[in-house]
Order: sequence, then C-alpha cells, then structure tokens
Amino acid sequence: MTNSSPIGLFDSGVGGLSVLKEVRKQFPNESLIYFADQFHVPYGSRPVDEVRAFAIGITRYLRSKGAKLVVVACNTASAAALFTLRKMFPDVPFVGMEPAVKPAAEESQNGVVGVLATPATFQGALYESVLERFAKDVTVLQDTCPGLVTQIEKGELNTPKTRRILEDALKPMLAKGIDRVVLGCTHYPFVIPLIEEIVGNGVNVIDPAPAVARQVGRLLEKHRLANCRDSLGEVVYLTTGEPPILEQLVSGLLGVKGEVRGVTWQGGCVIDL
Ligand code: DGL
Repeated sequence: MTNSSPIGLFDSGVGGLSVLKEVRKQFPNESLIYFADQFHVPYGSRPVDEVRAFAIGITRYLRSKGAKLVVVACNTASAAALFTLRKMFPDVPFVGMEPAVKPAAEESQNGVVGVLATPATFQGALYESVLERFAKDVTVLQDTCPGLVTQIEKGELNTPKTRRILEDALKPMLAKGIDRVVLGCTHYPFVIPLIEEIVGNGVNVIDPAPAVARQVGRLLEKHRLANCRDSLGEVVYLTTGEPPILEQLVSGLLGVKGEVRGVTWQGGCVIDL
C-alpha cells in the first residue's frame, strides 16, 4: 500500500455515505472506495456471526483493491466484527464506529439521552462497554426504529411512513426529557432534518461522522499514509445490489454523480462483475 492508495469504506447500504461525505470534506485529496452491501441490507436484524462474515469478506475485497485504511462505516458491522477484523488483518488500520454516548452524556443538561441504533448494535458487547464507560451518570433511552434503514435505502427521507417511525421512537423519549439524541446508525444522519423537526430546538442531534473523519486523519498521520498530492482524489462506489439504484441514491443523498460498479458474493467472497 502506498500513500496514493485509496481509503476503503463499507456499510450494508447507503448509510456509510454519511461518513464518506465527511471524509471527503476533510480529506478531498484522498481517493475513496465505497462498498455498499445492498444485497444484504439491512444488517441490523441479522445474526452477529453472519454480519461478521460479511465484514470479513468485504475487508478482504477492499484490501485486494489496495485499500490502505478501512473505515467500518457501519455501527452494526463494527459491533459484530471490529474486534475480529483487527485480529485477522493486523496490518490494516481500521476506523470503527460506536454510538456517540460519550459526548451526549457529557453535554446533557437533563441527564437523559436517547440513542437510535439497530437491534444488533444494542445487543453487542461494544455498546455494553460504551454504556459502562460513559453512561454511569445519565439515563439512556434506546430505540431500534424498525423499518427506518429500509426507508432510507428507498430514498424516502421525508414520507409519512418515515415520519411515523421517527415519531414512534422519539416522542416517548421527549416525554421523558431527553436533550440529546445520538445517531447510532450511519443511515440516520440522512433524516436529520426530519428528526430536528420532531424534537425541536431543545434537543441536540449528535452525528458522529465528523469525529469519525477526524479519526481517519489521525490514523493516516500515525501510519504515515496520508496522500501528499494536492489534486482531488477519485471516488468509486461499489454495490452488491443494483448499480443504477445506488447511482440514483448517491446523487440524491450526496448531490454528486458517482461512478458505480457492480460486485457480487460468491462462496463468502466478493468478486468483480
Ligand atoms: N448503517 C448501519 C449501521 O450503522 C447498518 C444498518 C442496517 O443495515 O441495519 O448500523
């Protein structure tokens, strides 16, 4: 791997694009490969072992394409696989995600915070350790927002159904006095306008993407992998689903026209089409 090699990012679908957007903003000269496992989306209701196997297959593929650093741009995959990935690929710097309970707990005035994440994220040991480390002095309310990832994958960012899912999650939390909402799934930043409409001014919505991108920067420095050139890096988008659908979503969610290629699973491995 060289300094001009790309950074790999992956998620079950379009969620990790919320992280890609920040990485792109902070490090425009880096080339990026974004991998959306849309054949398997959503990950959040799948068994942990299955999600871990997907994460291993995708990492292997990204590595074969020269990724110098891998961002697990998915809370569910981080919960299921980050520990294993670091052990299996000791020479790859990984940036993973955990629900940002720490800043929420530190900043909360009321001592009540809400976390929105998938069932698999809430069930994982990573989340348990986050609560142990950071949530001793606050009450944490959780919701899995059933169906929300699928709505976002369909590009339905502000439809009655999407609103209903979010209201069902947030209204009971508001009644209990939350003043911070942690977005513990990378899909959810795409519905921040709707969340803000529902929670109003008194509640801060915490999107971890800027902090995750800063961590990418720290690791690039630490491993001396930062790209030194000044020109804009390339971005390639890959999907195990339908390329035209991802192409449409990239343009709708990021406002850019992206080059999308199809890849497929074969016996636990990802191959080019
Ligand atoms: N975007 C993912 C996350 O951060 C996965 C959502 C899903 O596929 O269920 O958890």
